[in-house]
Amino acid sequence: MTRIDPSSRDSFGTKFGVIAATAGSAIGLGNIWRFPYVAGENGGGAFLLIYLIFVIAIGIPVMMSEFVIGRSAQLNPVGAFKKLAPGKPWFLIGIMGVVAAFMILAFYAAVAGWTLEYIYQSVVNGFKGKSPQELGVMFDTFREGSVRPVIWFLVFMGMTAYIVSAGVKDGIEKYAKILMPILLFLLFILCIRAVTFKGAGAGLSFLFKPDFSIFANFRDATGTILEALGQAFFSLSIGMGTLITYGSYINKKDNLATTAVTVSLADTLIAVLAGVAIFPVVFAFGIDAAEGEDLVYKTLPIIFQQMTGGYIFSLMFFVLLGLAALTSTISVLEVVTAYFVEELGMVRKKATLIATLSISVLGFFTAASWGWFTNISLSGKNVFGILDFTSANILLPLGGLLIVAFIGWYFGRERVNTELSSEGNLKTRYVSVYMFIVKFIAPIAIALVFLNGFGIFKFS
Ligand code: TRP
Repeated sequence: MTRIDPSSRDSFGTKFGVIAATAGSAIGLGNIWRFPYVAGENGGGAFLLIYLIFVIAIGIPVMMSEFVIGRSAQLNPVGAFKKLAPGKPWFLIGIMGVVAAFMILAFYAAVAGWTLEYIYQSVVNGFKGKSPQELGVMFDTFREGSVRPVIWFLVFMGMTAYIVSAGVKDGIEKYAKILMPILLFLLFILCIRAVTFKGAGAGLSFLFKPDFSIFANFRDATGTILEALGQAFFSLSIGMGTLITYGSYINKKDNLATTAVTVSLADTLIAVLAGVAIFPVVFAFGIDAAEGEDLVYKTLPIIFQQMTGGYIFSLMFFVLLGLAALTSTISVLEVVTAYFVEELGMVRKKATLIATLSISVLGFFTAASWGWFTNISLSGKNVFGILDFTSANILLPLGGLLIVAFIGWYFGRERVNTELSSEGNLKTRYVSVYMFIVKFIAPIAIALVFLNGFGIFKFS
C-alpha cells in the first residue's frame, strides 16, 4: 500500500481561500433547494427556530471538531481516524462517511441536473407565457420523462469529476472565491421582488412566526425535530468527513473557530434568504408549501416571469445555482477520492473515475425515480427520497455524534487546545465551553433527537 507523503499534499493557498472553499462546500442546493422544501413540509417558523438552535449549539461545534481532526491528522477521514486513534475502531466513522458521500452525490447531482435543465429552459425562454400551473406541469413532465434528468445528472457528475481529478488548489479554490458573493446578490434581488407580490405577507408569517401548535400533535413534531437536525447537518456539510478532508488542507496558522462560525453564519443567511424568496410566492400563488422536493423548481420561474429583466435574471440565477452546487459536489467527491488515493493507493485520476462511475450507477436510479423507477419505493419514498432521508437524517447526525464523542472522550482537551489555538498562537478562551458541548450537550442532544425520531423516547 503506497501512502502519500504528507508534505506533498495540496493545501489551500490563502486564508480567504479556506473560507471560500468551505463556504463553497456548505452553500449549495442544501440552502436554496432543500431548506425551503423541508421547512415547507415541517410547518415553517417552528422548523426555522429549531434549525437555528441546532446550527449554533450542534452544527458549529461539529464543524470545529471536523476541522480539528482533519488538520491535526492531515489525511482523509478514514486515514485521519486511523492515525489519531491507532488500532481503534474510530476509523469506521470515516468509512461511514465514504458511504454517505456515495448516497448524497447520487441524489444531489440529480437535483443539480434539474438546474442544468433550467439553465437550458432559461436560454430558450421556455418559461415564457406559462401560468404557475403550467410551470408546475412543465417540471413534472420533465422529471417523469427520465431521459433528460438522467443525461443532465451524468453531465453534472462529469463536470464534478473533471474538477476533482485536477486536484485541490486549482480545482476548487478558484471557482469558489468569486461566485458565492454574486449568488448572494442575486438572491437578495429575488427576495425584494418576492416580498412585493400581493399576498406575500402570509409567506413571511409562515417562515418567521413559529406555530407551536405543531408540537401539540406529537407525531408531527417528532418528525420536525429530526428533519431540522438533518437539515442543519446537510446544509453545513458536516457529519461525513467532508470538512475533515477540507480541514486537512487548512493552513496550520488559520483560526479554525472563526472559520467555522463565519461559514455557518453565511450558510444560514443564504438559507433564510432562499426562504424569503420562495414562501411569499408560494402563498401569493396558492402553491402547497408542503409540495416537496419540487417546490423550488416550481416556484422560482414564477418570480422570473414577473420581473423586469426576468430572462437574463433567470439565466444568471440558474447558472450560479449550478456553480454553487458544483462547489458542493466537488467537496463530496473529494472525500471519496482522497480515501481511494490515500488509503487504497490509487492515482488521483483513476480514483476519481472509479468513484464517479460507481456513484453514477446509483444515480441512474435516483435521477429516474419519478419515471422509469417510480415503482421502487419504501414506506412511500422513492429511490430519491430514500437516499435523501437516510443520508441527511440518519447517517450525518450519527456521524456527527461519533465525531464529537471522539473529540470529547478520546482526543482530549490538550490536543484540542493545540489545534484550536494554532499551537498557542491564538487566544482560545472558549475551549472549556466547546469541550463541554462536545462531551455532553451535542452527543446527548443528537441521541435524544434520534430516539425521539424513531419513537423510542418522548420529549413531552
Ligand atoms: N452542504 C451542501 C449544500 O448545502 C451539500 C454538501 C456538500 C454536503 N458536502 C456535504 C452535505 C457533506 C452533507 C455532507 O448544498
